[in-house]
Amino acid sequence: MTAHTAIKNTRKADHPIHAQFTSRFSPRGFTEKTLTEAEVMAVLEAARWAPSASNIQPWRFAYGLRGDAAFGKIAEALVPFNRSWAEKAAALVVVASASTAQKDGKANPNPSHTFDAGTAWGYLALQAHHAGLVAHAMAGYDGDVLAKNLKLPEGYVLHCVVAVGEHGDIEKLPEALQAREAPNDRLPLAQIVAHGKFV
Ligand SMILES: Cc1cc2nc3c(=O)[nH]c(=O)nc-3n(C[C@H](O)[C@H](O)[C@H](O)COP(=O)(O)O)c2cc1C
Repeated sequence: MTAHTAIKNTRKADHPIHAQFTSRFSPRGFTEKTLTEAEVMAVLEAARWAPSASNIQPWRFAYGLRGDAAFGKIAEALVPFNRSWAEKAAALVVVASASTAQKDGKANPNPSHTFDAGTAWGYLALQAHHAGLVAHAMAGYDGDVLAKNLKLPEGYVLHCVVAVGEHGDIEKLPEALQAREAPNDRLPLAQIVAHGKFV
């Protein structure tokens, strides 16, 4: 039995939405399955189709496949907790974006670049879910190490490292992680939405 059949999803949407939004979650257990370049490209393809301000597409991605040198360079930058489980993922994808955009030969600030990169990560995560994979974003990494290891170009900002792979059996995780390997809840809409004002 795989972890996803053993794990209970108690999430309940208060309004009718597509099941993908409550069935996707960020687990930490991975099987030993590797991913091909084509499988990784398919999740990045979804990110590519995210909307962005003026269609600037400020996002950039760097990835490594478990076992290759690029994967090692990304894993090296993770904080020890994240590294402990994420180095078993099939792929590590790093999301960055450009803080400026070229217009009339000039670099102008692009205030939407972080918002747009976040949308791209969301698309990536949902595509991974549709492909029978899981994607887990991490902000816990050393940005200096990551920027140096991946030769982050000037003017780009790092956002997260995403562990991608096939969801593994919960039994194979250390006990402390087993307890956290379940979909979590969300704030009620009333706490985040109001008519004509912010809550
Ligand atoms: C930008 C970002 C950074 C995150 N950083 C970490 C992290 O460093 N380590 C970790 O275990 N989970 C991390 N998470 C996972 C979140 O804790 C998780 O997405 C959140 O609890 C909601 O759960 P769900 O994704 O399962 O729905 C991160 C998620 C995002 C979007």
